[in-house]
Amino acid sequence: MRDLATALIQRKQDNLYRQRETVDGPQGVELDIAGRRVLSFCSNDYLGLANHPEVVAAFHRGLDDYGAGSGAAHLVSGHGRAHHRLEEALADFVERPRALLFSTGYMANLGVMAALLGHGDRVFEDRANHASLLDGARLSGARLVRYRHADTGDLAARLQSAPPGEYLVATDGVFSMDGDLAPLADLAAASTRHGAWFMVDDAHGLGVLGRNGRGSVQAAGLDSAQVPVLMGTLGKACGTFGAFVAGSGELVETLIQQARTYIYTTAPPPALACATLAALARVRDDDWRRERLQALVERFRAGAGQLGLRMMASTMPIQPLLVGEAADALRLSAALRARDILVTAIRPPTVPAGTARLRITFSAAHTEQQVDRLLEALEQVFATRLQGEGETGYRSRGWPGP
Ligand SMILES: Cc1ncc(COP(=O)(O)O)c(C=O)c1O
Repeated sequence: MRDLATALIQRKQDNLYRQRETVDGPQGVELDIAGRRVLSFCSNDYLGLANHPEVVAAFHRGLDDYGAGSGAAHLVSGHGRAHHRLEEALADFVERPRALLFSTGYMANLGVMAALLGHGDRVFEDRANHASLLDGARLSGARLVRYRHADTGDLAARLQSAPPGEYLVATDGVFSMDGDLAPLADLAAASTRHGAWFMVDDAHGLGVLGRNGRGSVQAAGLDSAQVPVLMGTLGKACGTFGAFVAGSGELVETLIQQARTYIYTTAPPPALACATLAALARVRDDDWRRERLQALVERFRAGAGQLGLRMMASTMPIQPLLVGEAADALRLSAALRARDILVTAIRPPTVPAGTARLRITFSAAHTEQQVDRLLEALEQVFATRLQGEGETGYRSRGWPGP
């Protein structure tokens, strides 16, 4: 039996130990943690809907109408009218014939791949894809082929040299840890040329990009023939929880028959679907949230540029500050936390070794003053050799800095 205690100590020594924060009260840009009010720049609640009064009220009404639990899997007796309405609304929103709800995005990705592929088939994935897409490929039994990040040429070459079989190309629409966009039109064209399924995980694009927040696929001008499998999550810009897969009627019926993560699990509470329906209306109708978010991101990037911070090439609300070593990312995160600002350090294996970062994210609920407070804190953290906090001075070590 493996010695867990020793492995945990080793993890701590490697600066890779993960810890949770316990939040008292609702989600928002300001959080109560350990008796302190902290300004958060790390949630995926991009549009500020997680605690929106209309969404919360719809959840309450859903509880009155449907009770707390669904009672069973969708295919038994757990598929409520509210789930069904939400599926129809989501299909309509992403302009596809059908949509199927899953409990989580993680489960949706696993379910799709195992339903469409098996031994002898191949899944082609961007190296920076989310863990759930990579795990989905592994679980499906198909061979996983990883192509260079956002490199359609590399994908095309790998498709070209693959033996005959069923192929699926899968990519994040917006990369979760880098914030950049996949070259969707080129990837779709390469997939079509080689007769491959093309699947986009739009966890971070839905609600943020495209007409009325329809996501990265719509923003790229692609339809359901070019992107036959679209996965969207509901726990990010939509502010609630869950996920869906949208596509043709045949795709959705196949998933209902064969996606094990759909079949063998209890349906989410119908009241949650009521809340998500209310959130979807805000996503669709509140263009001002996206405009505000974009303005905050631009304000931050301009300020970060003046400070000489090495930001990654992202125009999205995900603004990673590349640090390098896990220990440095942890120190920076702790220094911000000492100023009551919460930005988590993202470390391997979530990102490749040597690319630890602060994943700074923005919400339409942030104010300009709050963005400025973050910039001031970053300036202090980077400029000051912090005495007595165990920090050795980032500039003196050559990183980060102008
Ligand atoms: C790109 C991407 N796909 C899938 C998921 C999983 O979605 P969920 O949190 O609903 O399981 C996430 C994040 O959680 C993600 O960032």
